[in-house]
Amino acid sequence: MLDSLTSPLQSIDSPLLTRHGIRLTIKRDDLNHPLVSGNKWRKLKFNLEYASKHNFQGVLTFGGAFSNHIYATAMACKLANLKCKLIIRGLPLDPNNPTLKLAKASGAELFPVDRKTYRLRHDSGYLEFLHKEHPEYWIVPEGGSNDLALLGLKELTMSLPHSDVIACAVGSGGTLAGITLAAPKTTQIFGVAVLKGASTLKHDVLANYPSLSAYDNWLINDEYHDGGYGRFSDKLWQFCQQFQHHYNVPLEPIYTGKLLYGLWDKISQGYFPSGSHIIAIHTGGLQGLMGLKYRGLISSLSR
Ligand SMILES: Cc1ncc(COP(=O)(O)O)c(C=O)c1O
Repeated sequence: MLDSLTSPLQSIDSPLLTRHGIRLTIKRDDLNHPLVSGNKWRKLKFNLEYASKHNFQGVLTFGGAFSNHIYATAMACKLANLKCKLIIRGLPLDPNNPTLKLAKASGAELFPVDRKTYRLRHDSGYLEFLHKEHPEYWIVPEGGSNDLALLGLKELTMSLPHSDVIACAVGSGGTLAGITLAAPKTTQIFGVAVLKGASTLKHDVLANYPSLSAYDNWLINDEYHDGGYGRFSDKLWQFCQQFQHHYNVPLEPIYTGKLLYGLWDKISQGYFPSGSHIIAIHTGGLQGLMGLKYRGLISSLSR
C-alpha cells in the first residue's frame, strides 16, 4: 500500500507562458494517492515503514484542527494498519470539524490540548514524557518533517525530469529541504513562503537542515503569503478558481494557490529567463477546502 506514489506531470498551456518563453509543468502530487496525497504522503511513507518495521503499534503526531498533516496521518495509519494518536492544538474539540471527523472515523484517537501545552511540541522534555507515556508509538513532528520525510521527498525529486526550476510552497521548509538535497545543483529551487517572516523561516530551515548551507541554489520568496499563514484575499481565491477553470488543476488558497499565484506573477514580471522549464510541485492539501468552507471562509468548493 505504500508504493503507489506515481503521479502525472501536467503541462500548462497559456498565452502568458508563450509570451515569456516559459514551459510550466505541474507535478500533480495531489493525485499520488486517493486519500492521503501530496507532500504528506511523501513525508509519511518512510515514517510508516519505519514504524511497522520496528514493531511500533502506531504513530503519534501533532497538528492544528484543520491541518492536512492530521488528516493525512490518520488516513495513512489506517491504510498501514497502524494505530494513530493525534495531539490537536486548541480546546475544546469541535465535533463537527470535517478534518477531525474524518480522522476519527478512520480510527485515530484525538487528544486536544491547550495552546500553552501545544507550544511544547518540539521541547525535548515534553517529547521524552510523551515517549514514556506512549512507548509503542513512533513520534512524528508537526507537519511530518523529519529525516525519514526527506527520503520520501528524495523519491519525488528523483522521479522528475530535468528542469531549470523546481517550485514549491514553503511552510516548515521540510519539502523545500528534501527537494534541494536531492535535485541537481544546477536546478534552482524556488520556494514560496505561505507565512510571514521568510527571513526567520530561512534561518529555521537552515537550523533544521544544516546540510542545506552547502547549497546556494534555493531561495524562499516572501512576497506571496497574502497576510500570513491561513490568510488569503478574495483575489487569491479567485485566482485559484480561475486556475482550476482554465487548466483543470484544483488549488487551495493556503499552500498551492499561493505557490501558483507567486509563480504566475514572477513569470509575468519576466523574472525567469526565456527558455526556462519550471516544474511546480502540487503538494496536495485539497482536503483543507472542506475546513475553509465549514468556517465560511469560502462559499463553494469549486466554481
Ligand atoms: C498542501 C501543503 N503544501 C505545502 C506544505 C508545506 O510543506 P513544508 O511544511 O514541508 O514546507 C504543506 C505543509 O503543511 C501542505 O500541507
